[in-house]
Amino acid sequence: MEEREYQKKIETNRLLMKSAFAKEGFKSDQQKQIKQPPLTKLPVGENKIELKKDFLATIKESNILTIINDRKSNRVFKEEGITLDQLSFLLWCTQGVKGIRGNNYATVRTVPSGGARHALETYLAVINVDNLEKGIYHYLPLEHALELIVTLDNIEDFVVNSLDGQKWTEKSSVVFYYTAIPYRSEWRYTLDAHKLVLIDAGHAVQNLYLGCGAISCGTCAVADYNQELADKLLKLDGKDEFVIYAAPVGVI
Ligand SMILES: Cc1cc2nc3c(=O)[nH]c(=O)nc-3n(C[C@H](O)[C@H](O)[C@H](O)COP(=O)(O)O)c2cc1C
Repeated sequence: MEEREYQKKIETNRLLMKSAFAKEGFKSDQQKQIKQPPLTKLPVGENKIELKKDFLATIKESNILTIINDRKSNRVFKEEGITLDQLSFLLWCTQGVKGIRGNNYATVRTVPSGGARHALETYLAVINVDNLEKGIYHYLPLEHALELIVTLDNIEDFVVNSLDGQKWTEKSSVVFYYTAIPYRSEWRYTLDAHKLVLIDAGHAVQNLYLGCGAISCGTCAVADYNQELADKLLKLDGKDEFVIYAAPVGVI
């Protein structure tokens, strides 16, 4: 890439970090009274796995100061897999829906989100979770359930390739992939939506770190992934929904 082209791209990318909230004369789809998109992605499969919401027996550490002080990125995991109840807890920590605001206007979750738009979806690459076959799953936050997208015996290879060859990830029990459905936020926030969605992903993964700290698990945020392979693995179109972040989790 030429130096000039690079500088131009830097300028454009930096715009994403700035506020575009003052947009005189520009109407959002919400202001145009276009019907809002669904609060969550609708189930794509039929195979639902209900998850428990009673986490008391799963939590091993509940001192918030200990959890915060001990937080760090973990890339080395034990052989043993995590339990379905531990997975359920982590899904609850990161995207759990506590209620619905207004007339189906927004979800209220365990993490904050700009305008409560919650434009993220959670997918899992399951490598070693009790009672779950290896494969790709999609979280249904309204039901606190999982749906199976596809079983894959050699899921570890897909995981490593999709995460740009980061070999340590194959020893994790499960990889959380966060995708964005940008229009859920664009509908209201137009050009600011993209910044908000990325900030939201940070909230989810921070809660994943803290949730892991409560259940003797560890995680490490991953932004170095292969866009094309990650989107393909999750069967996404890469245009209206695509991966923006990942986080392998395992027992430490
Ligand atoms: C946005 C973001 C992206 C990251 N991407 C990667 C990654 O792709 N691979 C990796 O091994 N670590 C990744 N990390 C982990 C950082 O390297 C780690 O947070 C940092 O070294 C500080 O260490 P600590 O989290 O243990 O405090 C990422 C962290 C963040 C917040």
